[in-house]
Amino acid sequence: MEKKTILVTGANGQLGNELRGLAPRYPAFRFEFADIQELDLCEPHAVAGFIEALRPDYLINCAAYTAVDKAESDVALCWRVNRDAVENLAKPAALCGCRCLHVSTDYVFDGKGLGRPYLETDATGPVSVYGQSKLAGEEVLLKHCPDAVILRTAWLYSPFGNNFVKTMLRLGREGRDLRVVSDQVGTPTYAADLAAALMAIIVSAEDGKYAPGIYHFTDEGSCSWYEFTREIHRQAGIQVSVTPVSTAEYPTAAMRPAYSILDKTKIKMTYGLQIPDWKESLACCLKRME
Ligand SMILES: NC(=O)c1ccc[n+]([C@@H]2O[C@H](COP(=O)([O-])OP(=O)(O)OC[C@H]3O[C@@H](n4cnc5c(N)ncnc54)[C@H](OP(=O)(O)O)[C@@H]3O)[C@@H](O)[C@H]2O)c1
Repeated sequence: MEKKTILVTGANGQLGNELRGLAPRYPAFRFEFADIQELDLCEPHAVAGFIEALRPDYLINCAAYTAVDKAESDVALCWRVNRDAVENLAKPAALCGCRCLHVSTDYVFDGKGLGRPYLETDATGPVSVYGQSKLAGEEVLLKHCPDAVILRTAWLYSPFGNNFVKTMLRLGREGRDLRVVSDQVGTPTYAADLAAALMAIIVSAEDGKYAPGIYHFTDEGSCSWYEFTREIHRQAGIQVSVTPVSTAEYPTAAMRPAYSILDKTKIKMTYGLQIPDWKESLACCLKRME
């Protein structure tokens, strides 16, 4: 039987690299990895031609404009990548019957807090350009591909690219006194766990158990950026002074939700996922980075 094809776009980012690492464990599938050098998703004709030629069975879109603060002054490019590029993918994918798996963010919420983790059905209200553009990406994808799966995730880190874990390891090793925000709460999520969840969904789909829709996926547990920093340094054996500060004391270009814990009941019930605690996953990532 011919192998099913999975196209991974934005394949050189954190999530894309984790999917590259997982691919050999899924020999039943043929993977095609593309980043902007092979396929600029902002070019609608190129994207349509690529998808029509490849006719993938599944698309995992890992591409995004993820520089949250820079996006506040780079609005047009952020929207081109996070909204328009998604439409460029969705239109030809719908025509060839490709199932789209897409990744979104906790920043679609305003973070004012409901006294409980956010459900997929809770009202959105992004407070940043990045969050607004990602929400628009969700909407345009569902317009063209109503049978898409969208995973909203949060605070991604991995051994690849730039992320909070790598920054805190570097600053900690430089021995500088650090000030880190303690009044924003969320869940650090290891990109390898997200990659495994996406592959579990595709495997379920092949077993006839595909359930489209929006899902929340992060690792288990929660913390503030300050607590996250302390845990990174504790696990890495770095001794450095870290002072908790408020968001007001640490202004950034973009506003961020104060509370963005996501409820994962839906994805766990639907796809039977076992999700690790964020501290365990942090240990796995740090071990790989040794
Ligand atoms: N990082 C987080 O903390 C976080 C939190 C919540 C949700 N998410 C979401 O999770 C997903 C994966 O995030 P990530 O951290 O893996 O992102 P990432 O590391 O920033 O990777 C995104 C990739 O997309 C590529 N890309 C940008 N514009 C493109 C274009 N026009 N055509 C093709 N590729 C393009 C980027 O290339 P360049 O590097 O050359 O621009 C990069 O390789 C994204 O949807 C993101 O919004 C991330």
